[in-house]
Amino acid sequence: MKKQTMKLQYALLLIPFFVLLSQNTLAANPAHGKDLHDANCQSCHASLMGGDPDKIYTRSNRRVSSINGLKNQVTRCKTSVGVAWPDDQVQDVVEYLNTRFYKM
Ligand code: HEC
Repeated sequence: MKKQTMKLQYALLLIPFFVLLSQNTLAANPAHGKDLHDANCQSCHASLMGGDPDKIYTRSNRRVSSINGLKNQVTRCKTSVGVAWPDDQVQDVVEYLNTRFYKM
């Protein structure tokens, strides 16, 4: 087989992976993230922040300052709640929190 043809075949093989990757980020659904968040994450933050759960995201000394940091913190808190969210649901919650509070 010609070298050129082989290169093309490798390139074609990679396309499905890129499609999958981009779907994963594009498909983040903040409305679904809000539902997941409000059902699982509010009460603990509310008791930490004197009754207003949103304050943990808006306090002046908030911890999170990057998308990656936000994802890490959601993953950490998710583990402490004990919910088994797959990566796309974590992504939905990250998208919701970023759209509503962090705006990074
Ligand atoms: C058992 C208590 C508890 C629950 C439940 C909880 N958290 Fe948290 N969360 C914390 C604490 C404590 C902090 C503050 C950590 C710090 O200041 O270092 C925090 C901080 C955060 C922050 C960072 C806020 C900042 O400072 O920028 C995010 C984001 C977050 N939580 C997301 C979530 C999500 C999403 C859920 C639901 C899956 C959740 N948390 C559930 C205890 C909890």
